[in-house]
This record gives sequence, structure tokens and C-alpha cells, in this order.
Amino acid sequence: PNTTGLIFAMREEQEGLQTLITDQELHHIAKRSFIQGNLWGHPVVMVLAGIGKVAAASTTSLLIHHFQVNQLLLSGVAGAADASLKVGDIVIAQELLQHDMDASPLFPRFEIPLSGKSRFSAQQDLSLDLQKATQAFIQEIHQHLSAEQIQEFQLQNVRMHTGLIASGDQFIHDKQVLNHLKQALPDLLAVEMEGAAIAQVCEEHNLAFGILRTISDSADETAHHDFQSFVKNVAAPYTLGILKNYFEN
Ligand code: ADE
Repeated sequence: PNTTGLIFAMREEQEGLQTLITDQELHHIAKRSFIQGNLWGHPVVMVLAGIGKVAAASTTSLLIHHFQVNQLLLSGVAGAADASLKVGDIVIAQELLQHDMDASPLFPRFEIPLSGKSRFSAQQDLSLDLQKATQAFIQEIHQHLSAEQIQEFQLQNVRMHTGLIASGDQFIHDKQVLNHLKQALPDLLAVEMEGAAIAQVCEEHNLAFGILRTISDSADETAHHDFQSFVKNVAAPYTLGILKNYFEN
């Protein structure tokens, strides 16, 4: 059967998902708990990887080698890097790049040395399926979030975006840092800390992956404001709703 690996960086991002997994088997490897079972009838392995590129890369490797996953999905939050994105919007990665990779002058800035590339593409089919699931979710957002939550977090006009996501071992909370990055990468939509690491490992193993992110902040000085609350109350229900649509179609 086709097994999907589900990676999360933070506990709050996977809130509510564990109780939905049936036939659970628990595996402890490398200080992580892997929950194997079925989600809406589909075989999955869910794991809390931890934050950052190393955590994401090593966990991805474990999912591939210990669990033989056939595809991999990460869902979580990201900071907006483009003015057209607002908090509560959803980004599905088409390309991923490691913004803190810089071996210049030996290699061009952002290029992964010896790979000849700086951008990794998410798998087309998987991304399209995620986009469909997300669009359907946006239409039915009232079924997943209360009127109070929609009001409090101003989620009346949620939009979906697809494009470039950049990852680095840095929580970006400074407009100047963000602007520098945006100058080097004009098409950049969002910043986070894991996606491009997963992308690199999956590319090396020829494995399909998709990266789904809810915008939690604008990567500026206001970035930490009510972060935990947003992740729990908005990003986690988004993930549940979108994954449900994805697996049930
Ligand atoms: N994840 C959510 N917001 C982020 C930010 N501002 N920088 C990096 N990762 C993030």
C-alpha cells in the first residue's frame, strides 16, 4: 500500500490529528515518536520532527528508510515574504530554496554545493491535489473554524498562493532581514525553517513531497505576537480540514 509520511515541526501544528489515526503502532527512533496507522482510510506515518533543517532532513531520512513511505507531506506555519499574502492565507510550495545556504564565492549564493541547483520543485501531481483540497477547504472554512475564530483572526477572505518558499535556521522577525532576502529573491512568497531540507532529501531519493503552509505572521517585528494561539486555533484546524479533503478524494 501507498504510505504517506506526515511531518510536523511543532506539536501545536499537529494538534487534533493523532486521535484521528486508527490502528496505531508507535515506534521510537532517534528521540522521535513515529505514529503509524490509518488516516481516513489511508496508511500514514506521522512524526513530530522538531524545528529546523537538520531536524527535518534527518526525520525525512528516517521516514524513507524505516517506514518506506511513498510520499511525504509537511503542514505547518510560515512567515509572509510578499505583501500580497496576509495572515491566514495558505501557501503551497512549487519551489523550495535554502536561504541560509551561501558557499560563495565557491558556489553561487543559495546553491547547494555540487548539486548544481538552488531550487527544488515539489511534485506536480501531489501539489495539484493539495491545491484542490485547499480550495475546497477555503469554501467550507466555516465547518472547521467557529465564527468567533474567523472573527478573531480575520479569516473572512482567505486566499491560496503557490510559488517559492525559502527555508533557513532562523525565525525571521525583522523587516530589514526580510527585505534583503526579498531583494535577492523577488518571487519569494514565504519563509519557514524545514521545507527546503525535506525537498533536498526527497529529491535525492526521488520521492514525491508536498509542502503546505499557513501564514502565521509577516516575518517582521510583530512576528511572535500570539504565535502559539494562532498555530493551535487556525493552522491546526486548517491542516485537519485540508488533509481530510486530500485523503478523501
Ligand atoms: N514560521 C512561521 N513564521 C516564521 C518566520 N517568521 N520565520 C521563520 N519561520 C517561520
